[in-house]
Amino acid sequence: MAKIYPSLLSADFLKLQEELTQIEASGADGVHFDVMDGQFVPNISIGLPILEAVRKGTTLPIDVHLMIEQPEQYVELFAQHGADMISVHVEATPHIHRVVQQIKNQNVKAGVVLNPGTPIDAIKPIINMVDYVLIMTVNPGFGGQAFIENSLAKIESLAELKSQLNLTFDIEVDGGINDMTAQQVINKGATMLVAGSYFFGHNDYATATKQLKG
Ligand code: DX5
Ligand code: ZN
Repeated sequence: MAKIYPSLLSADFLKLQEELTQIEASGADGVHFDVMDGQFVPNISIGLPILEAVRKGTTLPIDVHLMIEQPEQYVELFAQHGADMISVHVEATPHIHRVVQQIKNQNVKAGVVLNPGTPIDAIKPIINMVDYVLIMTVNPGFGGQAFIENSLAKIESLAELKSQLNLTFDIEVDGGINDMTAQQVINKGATMLVAGSYFFGHNDYATATKQLKG
């Protein structure tokens, strides 16, 4: 069974506490928090003050997905404002090894993210350092986009590499996850699923969680 992380990007921000309480009651495993800077991706979302509020509003683990340039300048701040897990895009910095090390030094889980156009080879040198690898199954920047089909082969290759190397990192997927695609990615080896529009578009979050878990 996969772990489910609803993406707050699709939540109702006017009722954030209510949303967090309902996410907890649904049986979800954590919350996914999308940070966009208008540079690395063509959209601007939420940042430190909202993270601080969410930290006070839930005991679930908060998974911060940094879609920003120069992540090395911000990982400490996100850890201090309540992140339990922080992932950085391999495309966003020439110093991915250093940034992963910085995240680990904050005693939060470290993840590395691959855009749809980036091959798995790009993370091989640091794969033994991370707690999770996030495979983007849409181009990052917006909720509600369609799942990119050839991500399935990529998830499968990553799962093969993980078993060859005898590693235990989670394989997280993000983008276009719904009751159909969830089972497909789980079959290929995904262990952690992010869902935004599908989860929050459901009138019953517990049912949504159950359907996504597979
Ligand atoms: C996209 C974000 C996602 C987004 C997913 O750039 O990283 O976390 O909220 O939304 P859905 O599940 O609607 O594709
Ligand atoms: Zn995300």
